[in-house]
Amino acid sequence: MLHVKKIRQDFPILDSGIIYLDNAASSLTPEPVIQKMLEFYHNYRANVDRGIHRFSQKASEEYEKTHAKVADFINAESETEIILTRNATEAINLVASGLNWKKGDKIVTSLIEHHSNFIVWLRLKKRYGVDVEIVRPNREGLFDIADFEKAIDDKARLVALTHVSNVLGVKTPVEEVAKIAHGHDAHLLVDGAQSVPHLKVDVQRIGCDYLAFSGHKMLGPTGVGVLYARRELLDNLEPLSIGGGTIADVCLDHYTLSESPTKFEAGTPAIAEAIGLGAAIDYLKEAQLENIEIHERELVKKMYQGLADIPSVEVYGPKKMEQRTGIVSFNVGDLNPHDIALALDVSADIMVRSGHHCCIPLNKELLKRHEGTVRASLYLYNTESEVEKLVSTVDEIARSLA
Ligand SMILES: Cc1ncc(COP(=O)(O)O)c(C=O)c1O
Repeated sequence: MLHVKKIRQDFPILDSGIIYLDNAASSLTPEPVIQKMLEFYHNYRANVDRGIHRFSQKASEEYEKTHAKVADFINAESETEIILTRNATEAINLVASGLNWKKGDKIVTSLIEHHSNFIVWLRLKKRYGVDVEIVRPNREGLFDIADFEKAIDDKARLVALTHVSNVLGVKTPVEEVAKIAHGHDAHLLVDGAQSVPHLKVDVQRIGCDYLAFSGHKMLGPTGVGVLYARRELLDNLEPLSIGGGTIADVCLDHYTLSESPTKFEAGTPAIAEAIGLGAAIDYLKEAQLENIEIHERELVKKMYQGLADIPSVEVYGPKKMEQRTGIVSFNVGDLNPHDIALALDVSADIMVRSGHHCCIPLNKELLKRHEGTVRASLYLYNTESEVEKLVSTVDEIARSLA
């Protein structure tokens, strides 16, 4: 069981009474994570892998620990498979720019992707003439696996699919898609930005080849993210940048890059942030993802049902709670979602996201709501009474503005 009351003590930012329901955009950061980053600045503030002195040694040791913690967290085989990036977006771009594309290669993706896992593939279409095929789900966001079987053929080199939609909260069938992709010698990139913070994600169980996610959505600081790349793929992946820190040797007319992850982490990295991500993983492990998942499922049931029961409210995503996570998007009649979000903040200190959530194709093609939706998203510190407050305030707004 999750000790929410105790957990909330680690988030003094909540003490003012605000209700933070914008966790899919970015989570809050608990004190132990902030303290761990301060420890770096106070006690061993130095660059990593560049000094023989004790501060640099200690900073390097703490920085490198994060690779091992992430590897363990997602059950990677080795920490060499963990590349620290700036965020999920950079992790996905690393794969897009790091592979050798040619005309006629095919990338399969879906209509519910975040732009970070969508326009990068459209850019390859423009640059190299690769084909991009987009698999469409039904209006709830549920896919028919036969559509992936049709789209993934022998021309497919990569399938890029989100694990959880940041608008609909729907989970996707990544394990089945991995099998289909591998049957055609294609690789699967999973966008785990909305799954890794909330569900137990095991790269070996999923069978994915790449997994991208961000530290700031999982209690960590901004400025650090992760690309997991399966060990056998590391040699054929070109780094996004090269330079200091990435080399084994340099001559006047050539250079040799070092091994992963060093070859991918050019320049001075986000050291405090990486150390903070390690502390965030410690925090999540202590709370236990299984408990977080149960807690969010109970709250989301209440949130979904409460909102769906308001006459003028349309709620999106799957109706079956086991098919979704703690994200609920909705609209109130024809009202602009930004007006609802502003009213929630001003009248009840409730913070939610509004707009297209970086998923314009989903909004236009699937929901037919060009102006987007209001999105409330949960995390381990949210409570039942906060959900009740959201529902009652939306109800009041709906009545007063309708
Ligand atoms: C599903 C999904 N993918 C990718 C991203 C991009 O994450 P970041 O902005 O941290 O790179 C997000 C952020 O909202 C997301 O929800």
